[in-house]
Amino acid sequence: MAVNTDITVTSPLLPPLDEFIPYLEDIWKRKWITNNGFYHQELEKALSEYLKIPYISLFTNGTLPLMVALQALRISGEVITTPYSFVATTHALWWNGIKPVFVDVEEKNGNLDTDKIEAAITPKTTAIMPVHVYGNPCNTEAIQLIADKYGLKVIYDAAHAFGVEKDGKSILIAGDISTLSFHATKTYNTVEGGALICHDKATKKRIDYLKNFGFAGETEVVMPGINGKMDEIRSAYGLLNLKYVDAAIEQRKKIASLYRQQLQDIPGIKMVDDISHVKSNYSYFPVFINKDEYGISRDELYEKLKSRNIYGRRYFYPLISTFSPYRGLDSATEDNLPIAHKLADRVICLPMHHGLNEEDIKLIVSIINGGR
Ligand SMILES: Cc1ncc(COP(=O)(O)O)c(C=O)c1O
Repeated sequence: MAVNTDITVTSPLLPPLDEFIPYLEDIWKRKWITNNGFYHQELEKALSEYLKIPYISLFTNGTLPLMVALQALRISGEVITTPYSFVATTHALWWNGIKPVFVDVEEKNGNLDTDKIEAAITPKTTAIMPVHVYGNPCNTEAIQLIADKYGLKVIYDAAHAFGVEKDGKSILIAGDISTLSFHATKTYNTVEGGALICHDKATKKRIDYLKNFGFAGETEVVMPGINGKMDEIRSAYGLLNLKYVDAAIEQRKKIASLYRQQLQDIPGIKMVDDISHVKSNYSYFPVFINKDEYGISRDELYEKLKSRNIYGRRYFYPLISTFSPYRGLDSATEDNLPIAHKLADRVICLPMHHGLNEEDIKLIVSIINGGR
C-alpha cells in the first residue's frame, strides 16, 4: 500500500494496534458490545479523572450531546450563539426547534464577544451557547454574569477543548453543561465519539436516560430519548488512546512553538495570542492573512500550499450564518457580524498534529514565506 506523504491539517491519534488486540479479545470474551458495558463505564471513570470533572456521559459523537444538552435543560425559544464554529453547533439548536441568534465574535480569538450578548437578549431568550473556538477558553466569567442577570442557561460547545484548563481548573466546569467531540480529527479521539459534562448527579441521570431512548429500567420509558450510546469497541479504543494523549499534546505544543517562532516576523500573518494561564491542547493552529500586508489573499495561499501537498483548512469559512438554512435570520447579516466575517475571510488552520516534525514546519513556513 502506498504511504500518503501529504501534510494534512490533522492526523488521527491511533494507539498501537498490537496493544488494542487484547482489548478486543476481552470484549469478545465478555460478549457485551454496547449498552453501558464494562469499557464504557471504565472510560467514563478514566475521563472523569483525567479531565478533573465529576460527571461525564459518553456519546457516539460530539453533535448528539449538544442536542441532548438542550433537551435536558428544556431549552426553547431563542438561544444566543456564534456563527464562527462548525455547523453542528447551530444545527443542534435547529433540531430542537430553537431559533439561533447570532452574536459577533472577538477578533483576538474568534470567541463570542461578551460585550455584544446583552443587546441580543429578548424575552424569548433562554440560553447562551458559546464555543471555545480552537480550544481557547471563552470569557466564562463575563458569560456567567450575563446568564445570572437574565436567568439564562449556558451550554458550552467545548468540542475543541479536551483537557484545556484555565487557572488550574478544567474549563469544562463552566456553565450548566459542556460538550466534547472525540472525532478522529480531534486532539483525543475515539474514532467517532463525544461526551457531555454536567455538574450534578440528577442531571447526569437525566442525560443517561436521554441517550438511551429515555429508558429508566427495563420496562419504563420516562422521556422521548434518542440513541447516543458509545459502544464497547470505541470505549476500549478510547481507554487505550488516553494513555497516548499527553505525549501527543506535548508534540503539538512543540509544533505550535515552532510555528510561533518562525511566523512571527512575516508581515500580514496574524496568530491567536499565546495565553500563559491556559493549559492548552494545541488542537488547531489558525493564522489570519491580511492580504494588503502579506501580498496575496488567504485563498491564494491556501491553493499554493495545496499545490505542494500541504492541506490547511479554512476553519471556519464559510460562516454558519451564511449557509442556506440560516442566512434568512435577522441576526445573520454581515452588518451584525463584521468580525466573524473578517476572520472567516482570512483564516487558514495550518497542519497541526502529533505526527509533524521540525522539517515539516520548516517546509510549510518556507512556502508561506516565499508565497508572496
Ligand atoms: C465546534 C464543534 N462542535 C461540534 C462538533 C461536532 O462533533 P462531531 O463531529 O463529533 O459530531 C464539531 C466537530 O467537528 C466541532 O468542531
